[in-house]
Amino acid sequence: MQEKLPEIKKRALEEITKANNLQEIEALRIEFLGKKSEINELMKGMGALSAEERPVFGALINEVKDEIEKALASKKEEFEEVAMLAKMEKEKIDVTIPGNRQVMGRIHPLNKVLNQICDIFVSMGFEIADGPEIETDYYNFEALNIPKDHPARDSQDTFYISENVLLRTQTSPVQIRVMENKKPPIRIIAPGRVYRSDEVDATHSPMFHQIEGLVIDKGITFGMLKGCLEEFVHKLYGADVKTRFRPHHFQFTEPSAEMDISCPACGGKGCSVCKGEGWIEILGAGMVHRNVLKRGNIDFNEYSGFAFGMGLERLAMRALGVNDLRLFYESDVRFLEQF
Ligand code: PHE
Repeated sequence: MQEKLPEIKKRALEEITKANNLQEIEALRIEFLGKKSEINELMKGMGALSAEERPVFGALINEVKDEIEKALASKKEEFEEVAMLAKMEKEKIDVTIPGNRQVMGRIHPLNKVLNQICDIFVSMGFEIADGPEIETDYYNFEALNIPKDHPARDSQDTFYISENVLLRTQTSPVQIRVMENKKPPIRIIAPGRVYRSDEVDATHSPMFHQIEGLVIDKGITFGMLKGCLEEFVHKLYGADVKTRFRPHHFQFTEPSAEMDISCPACGGKGCSVCKGEGWIEILGAGMVHRNVLKRGNIDFNEYSGFAFGMGLERLAMRALGVNDLRLFYESDVRFLEQF
């Protein structure tokens, strides 16, 4: 029996060296070490040996098996390495190929301008306030000194939800809500959506945005109103833009004014943006009416204040050179991408 072992070992090692791939290695493992292998047969025959011979022969067989196993393993490793290298070669990526463009979202142009405006007022010590878009008749009109049947209501085509509930036509109701909840000194701006039953065209929309401003303290004057708004305009449009105040009428301010700025597009010479005027109206303002202070529980003998309101879309159209307000709401990325 013993004599067979060196011959089996020699043959196995030779064939393993000649193996060409992993499958052949596996076939050789079965041939030389499997259940039906010669070595296994020899092991089965060990029972016939004497008690002295058996351990000697067993050790010998194990040694041969070990060597064959080692040879198989090292050959296998060789092939695995070759396979790995081939795989790496196949899966190689070209890092110089241009990638797919990732389209990034961005801040909406209206919000861009709004953020700019808020930053300016915040830098001047204002806080941001807000109020509901669904308002009561009281806050939108009554408390702002616009009683029922007053003709001033006609200029704001109102969407009514019920007799006393409506979509706010202006951000001015926030003035009252702030006064009810805060003691002077008050310095707030209130940006938000407002609604009017207007036909849609290049300069009108049933929903648009206003930014309200309110300042109340001891000794607030019209001069402070002018100074504050002038400062705002210079920060938004540049120091060479001029301002001008024209007398106007609002029910909730007295006296009232509209503020114009010299056209930022032509510098005041007259162009298509300002329709040849050289001036552009940008906001309404005035000293808070006594009746309004009274509604806000503020003692008008002790305090005075000013308020202003401006339309965000119009400011944004001018600041960004957009000539049709509908573009802001259509969400066309070809438009939005330009800002
Ligand atoms: N609420 C007014 C409007 O919508 C603007 C305004 C606000 C005027 C505050 C004066 C003071 O036209």
